[in-house]
Amino acid sequence: MRRLPALTHEDAAMATFAPAVVYSPDIEHRQPDEEDTIAELATVFTGMARTVAEHEGHAHRAVHAKGHALLKGRFQVLDGLPAELAQGLFAAAGTYNALVRLSSPPAEQLPDTVSTPRAMAVKLLDVPGARVEGGDEQHSQDFLMVNGPAFSTPGIQGFLRSAKLLASTTERMPRTKQVLSATLRGTEAVLEAVGGQSATLKALGGEPQHHPLGETFFTQVPFLYGPYMAKFSWVPVSPALLALTGQPLASTADTQREAIGAFFEHLDAPVEWELRVQLCRDLEQMPIEDASVVWPEALSPFVAVGRLVVGAQPAWSADAEAREDGLAFAPWHALAAHRPLGSLNRARRIVMAASRQFRAQFNRCPIHEPSGTVG
Ligand code: HEM
Repeated sequence: MRRLPALTHEDAAMATFAPAVVYSPDIEHRQPDEEDTIAELATVFTGMARTVAEHEGHAHRAVHAKGHALLKGRFQVLDGLPAELAQGLFAAAGTYNALVRLSSPPAEQLPDTVSTPRAMAVKLLDVPGARVEGGDEQHSQDFLMVNGPAFSTPGIQGFLRSAKLLASTTERMPRTKQVLSATLRGTEAVLEAVGGQSATLKALGGEPQHHPLGETFFTQVPFLYGPYMAKFSWVPVSPALLALTGQPLASTADTQREAIGAFFEHLDAPVEWELRVQLCRDLEQMPIEDASVVWPEALSPFVAVGRLVVGAQPAWSADAEAREDGLAFAPWHALAAHRPLGSLNRARRIVMAASRQFRAQFNRCPIHEPSGTVG
């Protein structure tokens, strides 16, 4: 039998919370008609990508099409994690090269004056260990996040309805989307003032026009964490990043690219994000198959397990678009110890692969898993 490590003072602090729930397969429930719904989602998403590709002569990601930055960084697993947190990637000290892509969710290359949620995808390179079944990269561990703590719908059925609505607006009247965006931002500000936030308004262009580098990002959906289950978050911790939280951006077509580019061009010292993890400690209040529930931090706080360090560099060089075409970030690029959980994640395995395949074929640009120090 494996000998348990001695209890550290961090263990003692975590002991004030309920123990992390151990995963078992009966915690995941396949939805009625799950395969059909996923197939329909794949059709809707590749349909959106095709509409945009035929219009622009170039295929982008079916969603998160507009990249604002493609950065290189280094990721370090924190030393001396308590036993509960020393799992999977985080079981041993390690430093990995990382690629970071900042993006916005729509399918089109919309001007940033249509303000939608911010996203941050990170790929850790050359990670050793047993791979998840059903993933198609051999050494990457990817973490994809957006700047809100919960998904817009509990599962795939509701998401299919929203996706169909989104598809019906794709490439129709971008000017109308811009007018709508300005109006919705006003409505969102009123809602936030009274303590509410609407994911739907934000997705349609009502996201506050804030600097993306000051935002906190969340996976929204759960993953295995060794024997346990968890959600992840990227949290800016350097003062230079924290100074950008809530900072308004100018209203221009590429305001996010410009703001991120200026930040990394004039950076004096590298900046850091923490990767934090929130373990599931109560299946009722921290459900696996309802991604619309924000897991209460009073029951299980987010705790730092790693840090991402990014230094001065060109954030969006002339060839960035070509480079991002050859890359794929995906939650199923993962160790077996961090297998994606729940119906939305099961759908992402199929739908994101279909999107990758479509854009690679349309652009005649194969996707490669990066390795080494990436140029
Ligand atoms: C059923 C649910 C979801 C579906 C069907 C879906 C679908 C997709 C697709 C088709 C892509 C483009 C893939 C490519 O061509 O490489 C994508 C990208 C992305 N998704 Fe999702 N997604 C879902 C849920 C989520 C969630 C829960 C998050 C995070 C909270 C997320 C964050 C992202 C990000 C950040 C990207 C851009 C990755 C990059 O920079 O390349 N998605 N998604």
